[in-house]
Amino acid sequence: MDIYSELQATITDLVQPGRGILAADESEPTIAKRFKAVGIESTEENRRAYRTLLIGTPNIGHFLSGVILFEETLGQRNDQGTPLPAFAAAQGIVPGIKVDKGVTPLPGAPGDNVTQGLDGLAERLKGYKTQGTRFAKWREVYPVSERNPTLLGIDVNADTLARYAAICQSVGIVPIVEPEVLLDGDHTMQRCAEVTECVLHAVFHALHRHGVLLEFMLLKPSMVLPGKESAARASVEEVARETLRVLKRTVPAAVPSINFLSGGQTPEQATAHLDAMNRQYPGAPWSLSFSYARALQEPVMNCWRGNPANVAAAQKLFYRRAEMNSLARQGKYRSELENTGT
Ligand code: 13P
Repeated sequence: MDIYSELQATITDLVQPGRGILAADESEPTIAKRFKAVGIESTEENRRAYRTLLIGTPNIGHFLSGVILFEETLGQRNDQGTPLPAFAAAQGIVPGIKVDKGVTPLPGAPGDNVTQGLDGLAERLKGYKTQGTRFAKWREVYPVSERNPTLLGIDVNADTLARYAAICQSVGIVPIVEPEVLLDGDHTMQRCAEVTECVLHAVFHALHRHGVLLEFMLLKPSMVLPGKESAARASVEEVARETLRVLKRTVPAAVPSINFLSGGQTPEQATAHLDAMNRQYPGAPWSLSFSYARALQEPVMNCWRGNPANVAAAQKLFYRRAEMNSLARQGKYRSELENTGT
């Protein structure tokens, strides 16, 4: 298969009506933090057991077309000895891999960061491909303050995302491009909209300069929201409207799908916002879907708590959350559905 057919086949498998992506790619420090919050020790065995629980949820492939894994998970197996990427593929879920190596301060741009991991990336990707992965994810973060992100920060982060995406495509891996405008801070929703618009504008300019084919990538943005510490509240319809306004201004129609991150929203908020966007813009040129980590996993981790006796109940909650987001992806979610039986 030539590279374009390979990229197209992955896009076709990932972008499916009623389905989205699970981000289960927490780095070791991040999963340790999430586990600790619910009293689970972050051992290799617990991480394996937890990710086996997620991927092994019966029929979860109805709602998930892809899963983003952390490097360690690629080498782990389920209880029957099947490697976890192959276990996902058997559920009809395309395995992907987080390839960035986290953020570091960006000198010359106080308060801003840049993500590391470009050196040797093409070689690493070829290795991950032999382990069954077909797409990748790279995240840049943008803190919001009066001065941040700076023009330099916006520029360097956009260029880094574009370099990563171009490298992925050159080896037949579909890139998920993730520019995350952080929720932390007391900024207004308007300020978040203004920053997100500048960020996305710069990202697509850089993608163009680096020759990235927009048809063969996915965008994973944050939603437009007031800062977490802001006293202002925004309604579900307002969040959807402001987020769509920014996306319409910046994301070319050639991009097949926008899969949002949840960014610290509650599971129900993330679902309701996605639903409202799909209802407000039924003819959108891109599909509007999800690629949540916390908003899909929070109830699951809380229920499991590292106890094998809780696996079936935790899987039931996971199935439920994924189902709610599947409905939201079609604009068919209603909050009353949260409390009804499946
Ligand atoms: P959240 O949905 O928890 O924001 O995580 C998505 C993600 O992949 C962060 O990189």
